[in-house]
Amino acid sequence: MNHLLEILRNNRDLPDDDFKIIIEEEQYEEELFSIADSVRRQHYGVDVYIRGLIEFTNYCKNNCLYCGIRRDNQHVKRYRLDKNEILACCKQGYELGFRTFVLQGGEDNYFTDEMISEIITEIKSLYSDCAVTLSIGERTKETYKAWFDAGADRYLLRHETANEEHYKKIHPECLRLKNRKKCLWDLKEIGYQVGSGFMVGSPFQTIDCLIEDIRFLQELQPDMIGIGPFLSHKQTPFHSFPNGDFHKCLRLIAILRLIFPYSLIPATTALGTINTQGREMGLKAGANIVMPNLSPVKFRKQYELYDNKICTNEEAAECKSCLEKRVQSAGYRIVTDVGHVRR
Ligand code: 5AD
Ligand code: FES
Repeated sequence: MNHLLEILRNNRDLPDDDFKIIIEEEQYEEELFSIADSVRRQHYGVDVYIRGLIEFTNYCKNNCLYCGIRRDNQHVKRYRLDKNEILACCKQGYELGFRTFVLQGGEDNYFTDEMISEIITEIKSLYSDCAVTLSIGERTKETYKAWFDAGADRYLLRHETANEEHYKKIHPECLRLKNRKKCLWDLKEIGYQVGSGFMVGSPFQTIDCLIEDIRFLQELQPDMIGIGPFLSHKQTPFHSFPNGDFHKCLRLIAILRLIFPYSLIPATTALGTINTQGREMGLKAGANIVMPNLSPVKFRKQYELYDNKICTNEEAAECKSCLEKRVQSAGYRIVTDVGHVRR
């Protein structure tokens, strides 16, 4: 076994310069993936957990420079699902075998703390064997606590980049890395299973940024880690930047699997968008989650964070069976399970 990879597997860590080598260099990639896969199998076997993604609002008060649903994008037709529409997505998802629902949206103040609490309470009372994951951005600790008390189990909030200067280059002035990190620590303290992550190849990202991303995750010790390639969106200020590097993203998935053997790592939609076999390859590099879309098809295209997003025409059932086949072809199997972290 390659010396660096052996150290990484055994110590779950490497010095910065060694991390840089295996992030950048393609020559170690095959062995890296195979070691990551064996570690994933030790912890999760061939199980892949599914999460039903419900994109319930594309309104957003923020203006992140990379994101297609940023406030200043006047071309987006905005939509919101009401409580009953969200519950209809859950019902359909439950019947298809989903035991986790991910409520994802832009930062939309139309939904008050109370409204979100009510939605969580209702989902949990109808589907008590299911987990509710929230992915709705930065809020106060009090609000996070109220939603946790209403029954929310998990929270996804990617840190996007752990480098202060880089953060400022891809976000508007009013958003601060310090705030984002505080939200993540608050969520942890409250008792959520916490997910964070970053984009690979976002504009101005350097190899040192990626090292800082890894170091921050080592501090945070998240349960879930979502990464995907940056993909440009034509109606954003970053429209002419190149997409992130697909293989570098796969290598980072594998490295994260080796640093955090127990973690829940999705083969993301962005990965499936940049390469038709992206999600399959992500699974083989150590990912163990897929997130089929449960949102109503009529709104799917309006939740376009980046160009050419896949799965915008397929009904929930189609998306699930499509993924089922893909997961199987990669050598794994989708299970009906709430899919908590196996720490
Ligand atoms: N390319 C890739 N990923 C993106 N995200 C937002 N915009 C883009 C883009 N243009 C990611 C962010 C966010 C998640 C929901 O989607 O990392 O946290
Ligand atoms: Fe959605 Fe293939 S996963 S269509």
